[in-house]
Amino acid sequence: MNILSTENLFKDYINGPVVSKVLKGIDFNVKKGEFLAVMGPSGSGKSTLLYQLGLIDNATSGKIILDGQSVSDLTDEEKQNIRLNSLGFVFQDYALIPELTASENVMIALMMKGYSKQKAYDISAHYLEMMGLKDRLRNLPSQLSGGEQQRVSVARAVAHKPKILFADEPTASLDSTMSEQVMSVFKELHKNGQTIVMVTHEPEYGKLTQRIVYLRDGKIENHNHKF
Ligand SMILES: Nc1ncnc2c1ncn2[C@@H]1O[C@H](COP(=O)(O)OP(=O)(O)OP(=O)(O)O)[C@@H](O)[C@H]1O
Ligand SMILES: [Mg+2]
Repeated sequence: MNILSTENLFKDYINGPVVSKVLKGIDFNVKKGEFLAVMGPSGSGKSTLLYQLGLIDNATSGKIILDGQSVSDLTDEEKQNIRLNSLGFVFQDYALIPELTASENVMIALMMKGYSKQKAYDISAHYLEMMGLKDRLRNLPSQLSGGEQQRVSVARAVAHKPKILFADEPTASLDSTMSEQVMSVFKELHKNGQTIVMVTHEPEYGKLTQRIVYLRDGKIENHNHKF
């Protein structure tokens, strides 16, 4: 069953008189529980595709169907609700709030969804422990290594059990040891049933997924079914 699919998706960026055609008719499917990698040259449109799929940005034309619902024609507020409640995001630069501890960074996302402070704390502690950060709950981001910060951001992204976890080059700022820690967290999440769409430049991390979709110049180049 597809949890996410697109039909003939186009994205143009318009800056004054300049129109950049970035996505050029993308038909793309993600199955429930799938761990999928998006790869391709710099500038091919990987982040742009992720932003459309994650309802962070509005496509120029085409359709996005999330868990059986067409989401293309929803209002910005409706999209925001879906983003908050059903999707999770991990970015290259962790995007943690520097003034908040590891656990507070996870809690704040949960409290925005209406969880009580105590409940949010308990969930944050559970997920941070799962990420191997049991002893780091009270650390500020500046008191954590890059790999630890990224695992906090993964905990924040999955603590509300999103239908899909999107990650845009989650290991690009990390050395190989830290990258492997983060990738083993992704593998564990996938084993527990999490659907994951991950953009990566690293062929060795692409190989950890079930399927790699290659983008080139805004189009899907081929599907590489490994199994
Ligand atoms: N807001 C924007 N306005 C105009 N052009 C943009 C904007 N964002 C991205 N682009 C252009 O769209 C194209 C695709 O960018 P995108 O960031 O999706 O590529 P990418 O595949 O993620 O590359 P990288 O591997 O370097 O992250 C690039 O040519 C980029 O310059
Ligand atoms: Mg990118």
